[in-house]
Amino acid sequence: MKILQCASEVKAKLKSGDRNFLPFKGKSMAMIFTKPSMRTRVSFETGFFLLGGHSIYLGPDDIQMGKREETRDIARVLSGYNDIIMARVFTHQDILDLTKYATIPVVNGLTDYNHPCQIMADALTIIEHIGHLEGTKVVYVGDGNNIVHSWLLLASVVPFHFVCACPKGFEPDEETVRKAKSTGISKIEITNDPKEAVVGADVVYSDVWASMGQKEEAEYRRKVFQGFQVDEALMEIAGSKAYFMHCLPAERGVEVTDGVIEAPYSIVFPQAENRLHAQNAIMLHVLGL
Ligand code: CP
Ligand code: NVA
Repeated sequence: MKILQCASEVKAKLKSGDRNFLPFKGKSMAMIFTKPSMRTRVSFETGFFLLGGHSIYLGPDDIQMGKREETRDIARVLSGYNDIIMARVFTHQDILDLTKYATIPVVNGLTDYNHPCQIMADALTIIEHIGHLEGTKVVYVGDGNNIVHSWLLLASVVPFHFVCACPKGFEPDEETVRKAKSTGISKIEITNDPKEAVVGADVVYSDVWASMGQKEEAEYRRKVFQGFQVDEALMEIAGSKAYFMHCLPAERGVEVTDGVIEAPYSIVFPQAENRLHAQNAIMLHVLGL
């Protein structure tokens, strides 16, 4: 919550045109990407620049993590040149290894397991539109993936009602669900019935059915996920107060209809913009600034 408060303050400063807040001046960030990205790359790079810093993009072919060089060596070498590392990787163990061996902060820009920066931006967006996250009902419809795990981790520290409606066999990681429930902080439900789940939602949330690294399963998943598309009828069941959110990129006509993304209740673009502000606050926090 302290980080989100900071995100709002720095956002207001940037939105006012003030370019004199330069806490990252003289600082350098290495950004490792083993997967594609638009939002994560541009929001980190631009956000760090707007607060005075310099960032270096290292794409899949540049350092070839774990192939050309071991992750533990990369972590230590990059620590010698930079002040912070941001990494988007496949296996979650890679981010843990980077964190273990780096002597500078490492920020998770998505792994197969979770996507914490996205959920911080989502929380900021909900607070801006509804006024608070506490007590809201957030209903995720689709695959029990990395986005869901980050929602569950957030529900372990902030009290709200989180429901994940997914097809049988595509539930989120059991251990993560168990741990989140055991905190007793939030009401958490995992269900296979999207129509029942969305009733009374403040937010209906969707993500791709086949994440990065699963694209060869896309066709099969399209069949299994029938009934889990967020369309106008599902939003109608959710009720008039429901906003629609999606981490993007979206496959229009697959997990969500074009009409829902373009509807007045869709807040996907302010949500995407908030990646920059949430991440700036996260970087200020981990750098102790
Ligand atoms: N939402 C998100 O992380 O988008 P990118 O994959 O474009 O970075
Ligand atoms: N679940 C998606 C999120 C993309 C931001 C993926 O991992 O591809």
